[in-house]
Amino acid sequence: MSREIIDRLNELLECERAGVEVAMRLATSDARGFTEGELKKFAEDEGWACGGLRKAILRFGGTPLERTGDFSVKVMALPTEGERVSLLARGQAWVVRRIDALLAKDLDPETRAFIVEMRDQHLENVEACPMCSSPVTLGRGSMMTKGVRSGSTGARKYPRRSHS
Ligand SMILES: [Fe+2]
Repeated sequence: MSREIIDRLNELLECERAGVEVAMRLATSDARGFTEGELKKFAEDEGWACGGLRKAILRFGGTPLERTGDFSVKVMALPTEGERVSLLARGQAWVVRRIDALLAKDLDPETRAFIVEMRDQHLENVEACPMCSSPVTLGRGSMMTKGVRSGSTGARKYPRRSHS
């Protein structure tokens, strides 16, 4: 049992629950910035991540916490679609950085495979942000570059919105 890994997994679980909440709230908003299909995919990915994180926490002998982050409150407090989409993209990028930190830890193969797929999905969802045609910086010397997926998740279910 690794307390640090369990804490990190629970931190991600809190964020992913908030992600589901954001998708739900944006779906009924006038300034949502995404198509219905994009929001549906986003909600599905975040929900999928919640399920996988819960299982991973249990595998490590931990208890999945029931907390939800306040991310959706922060997103919905923004007045324009552009600001909402931008914060959402930065939130996804933050999750990728947290996942990278977790991947440096000693993980069982099942948890590692799940986390890698979760990372891929978050990169896909940053790419899908309609107003994020410029790369989102991930940290020093690292960017949300396209085409870094491991190929584990298959094709997107919804076509990406074109940038004009
Ligand atoms: Fe997420």
